[in-house]
Amino acid sequence: IAPVITIDGPSGAGKGTLCKAMAEALQWHLLDSGAIYRVLALAALHHQVDIESEEALVPIAAHLDVRFLSTDGVMKVILEGEDVSAEIRSQNVSNTASKVAAFPRVREALLRRQRAFRDAPGLIADGRDMGTVVFADAPVKIFLDASSEERAHRRMLQLQESGFSVNFERLLSEIKERDDRDRNRAIAPLRPAEDALILDSTSMSIEQVIEKALQYARE
Ligand code: CDP
Repeated sequence: IAPVITIDGPSGAGKGTLCKAMAEALQWHLLDSGAIYRVLALAALHHQVDIESEEALVPIAAHLDVRFLSTDGVMKVILEGEDVSAEIRSQNVSNTASKVAAFPRVREALLRRQRAFRDAPGLIADGRDMGTVVFADAPVKIFLDASSEERAHRRMLQLQESGFSVNFERLLSEIKERDDRDRNRAIAPLRPAEDALILDSTSMSIEQVIEKALQYARE
């Protein structure tokens, strides 16, 4: 059974960049589990499903037609044959994703799909519950954190680079609201696994974070 390194943490802590760098350095597979929740949110919005209804969301989650395409180091997210890589990063989709992610049976419907990414030579799994639920048996677990202001700032720069115009205060309050929802939900709440290394990246550069994480993984 292939090894897994789990990277969990709140929004904007730098998990995406770290996971991509680790997958490249180790030549391992990469799972962006957040993208699956985002695609589910988008599918629900497209099909005008009531996003407050667990009942209605479960079949969408179970039959989600999502594929990840990696070309020249860029990961494309495909929903029902359509490239939705940019669309799933909008604030509306972010907020909807964290709402649909709070339903236990929705999470359960996505479990097998996530575990199927585990493959030789190994997997880097990015998310909220990778180390606590989905890959609880992973030999290496990291919890990447940062202050909410720093995370909102990073997220603002990232969204601006992708052509979204954003207001810092609004972003900060949305990040806090989403964190609260992710931390306080009854199922798979966002928290470090007991055996996770906690990395606070508030005053670290991304290069420092990558170096620390790779060093820890190789120990
Ligand atoms: O990009 P960002 O870190 O802001 O979010 P993401 O990782 O793409 O995840 C979007 C939302 O999906 C999160 O706010 C969580 O509510 C949910 N999620 C989850 O519940 N479990 C995961 N393993 C990954 C994401």
